[in-house]
Amino acid sequence: MEIRVLPLPAEAKKKKYTDESQLGFGKIFTDRLFIAEWKTGQGWVDARIEPYAPFQLDPACTVLHYAQEIFEGLKAYRWKDGSVALFRPEMNARRFNHSADRMCMPEVPEELFLKGVAELVKLEADWIPTAPGTSLYIRPTLIAVDPYLGVKPADHYYFYVILSPVGAYYAGGFNPVKIMVEDKYVRAVPGGTGEAKTGGNYASSLKSGMEAKQKGFDQVLWLDGMERRYIEEVGAMNMFFAYGDKVVTAPLEGTILNGVTRNSVITLAAELGFTVDERKVDIDTIMADIKSGKITEAFGSGTAAVITPVGALCYKDENVTLGNGGVGRLTQKLYDTLTGIQTGELADKFGWVRKL
Ligand code: COI
Repeated sequence: MEIRVLPLPAEAKKKKYTDESQLGFGKIFTDRLFIAEWKTGQGWVDARIEPYAPFQLDPACTVLHYAQEIFEGLKAYRWKDGSVALFRPEMNARRFNHSADRMCMPEVPEELFLKGVAELVKLEADWIPTAPGTSLYIRPTLIAVDPYLGVKPADHYYFYVILSPVGAYYAGGFNPVKIMVEDKYVRAVPGGTGEAKTGGNYASSLKSGMEAKQKGFDQVLWLDGMERRYIEEVGAMNMFFAYGDKVVTAPLEGTILNGVTRNSVITLAAELGFTVDERKVDIDTIMADIKSGKITEAFGSGTAAVITPVGALCYKDENVTLGNGGVGRLTQKLYDTLTGIQTGELADKFGWVRKL
């Protein structure tokens, strides 16, 4: 499908950030966005890149009432030679459509998803920061825009992509975070929407997140929704625990996100000589193994969070420290290897990088 590029008037050009160390996460947006529309009977129409501006939505539209919405997160990196690279964008396109299917939304052809992202990033390439740990975060989103209050899948959708220059997701940068294990609220149940990247999952996590923040924690670790026993994910990250040269992470059984970074970590850890076990692991075992020193380190993985070391865990008011509370050796190695591939400092032997 052809993508029309609309002019960017001088007054729509924003003032750029000047200090990359102050970027934070998701606070500023570039000059343009990509958008295409889907209508029943017509399919995908009118793909265009236009100045970034608020949408005018009908107050009755489906996304505002029944949360028919999905999104993705991926990043563009500026390499030292000035070129620009994306990391495994096809995996995001595939997961997007998996989420779309769960939420009864139209599939976005992989080609349209990839072309929309690539053309927009190319036009906005001078927004990509260059300092270590920074990148251009890409947020593809699909929303239902029909003005109709009956509960049914919509007949009109916007697929749009916005861009945000970012630094670290957590305010502390690449430093250990403190995680509270949630034993009151649940994020997902079998048969629910836990595996879909849909806004409602994040809305329902806010109360737990706020309570954890008030107690001094950065985020919560979810347990399974049936028994509140097995480790699931941290909302913005998949979780890994290292037992010396063995790494354990929750299996993909429909309640957690199939993370692109999770998948990359599993491949890289195996390459580094670690055995990766995707299996159910219960929180009592985790706590006991941290206390006895069997678990040597823990970290989370995600596009926004990259690899984030976990320094402390709290479950039912008991606090435990992971290793010496600092950044573990495997965590550091995975961070360096993954970001090295993404930024072109290390060879990409897995064919993950897509140069624009
Ligand atoms: C990402 O890592 O891209 C995510 O979507 C997590 C997010 C909710 C910040």
